[in-house]
Amino acid sequence: MIDNGIDMSRIPQHVAVIMDGNGRWAKQKGKSRIFGHKNGVKAVRDTIETAAEMGVKYVTLYAFSTENWNRPKDEVTGLMELLVFTINKEIKTLMENEIALQAIGDLHSLPKRCYNELMRAIEKTSSNKRMTLVLALSYSSKWEILNAVKELASQVEKKKIKPEDINEELFTQHLCTSSIPDPELLIRTSGEHRISNFLLWQIAYSELYFTEKLWPDFRKEDFKLAIADFQKRERRFGKTSEQLSNVMQ
Ligand code: IPE
Ligand code: IPE
Ligand code: MG
Repeated sequence: MIDNGIDMSRIPQHVAVIMDGNGRWAKQKGKSRIFGHKNGVKAVRDTIETAAEMGVKYVTLYAFSTENWNRPKDEVTGLMELLVFTINKEIKTLMENEIALQAIGDLHSLPKRCYNELMRAIEKTSSNKRMTLVLALSYSSKWEILNAVKELASQVEKKKIKPEDINEELFTQHLCTSSIPDPELLIRTSGEHRISNFLLWQIAYSELYFTEKLWPDFRKEDFKLAIADFQKRERRFGKTSEQLSNVMQ
């Protein structure tokens, strides 16, 4: 079924989003950066709603990176408060829409109240089956990969595994995303063309989509444009185009 130029039978299972541009959006309006973050919540809602309507199973949102701890103290505090407030407020909508919440990152580094609210929401929504919303919080991919390496090294030391047992599958099992399939599509807003330490391992074969839209301006239509663009791509995974069109080759 084709809806709005989108082939509903080829919807990506997992879409990851680097929500960028809140600060610039606020600056253009002569407001504080935190005003920009607050106005990004509507874009989060639109993205989640559209993804769920389309049948996307996982949406991962990069909400706060390890590097973001180095921002001015006021902004970090403001962001953490916004997080607690938003989780509290949206829990009802998550339940109504059967969306489960998960989080990846160094969650113990979050302020206690933030951590507790997050755990409460994760727990409460855990049996929802329609879609999973993954928040990347205090997340960085290098941190995650190093943790996996340390864990595997310690298992080798304890002779639980041999170095030659380490393969892609075992490594993947030691990432925060072990229960989540790799994203087929990664969207970044605000015109920046970089990954900023997000899901480096998991996006090895993801399609990348960049839009000039600043995050607070990102709407349902923009998400649909990204999906439509994704559907035009040929995902070859190292093969040739001819091999893909001819299953016998
Ligand atoms: C993204 O917007 C939100 C976070 C990183 C928390 P920014 O705050 O990075 O906005 P810009 O990039 O400065 O415009
Ligand atoms: C990436 O955005 C992190 C999040 C969206 C949470 P940044 O704005 O922090 O990234 P850089 O610093 O421009 O690379
Ligand atoms: Mg930014």
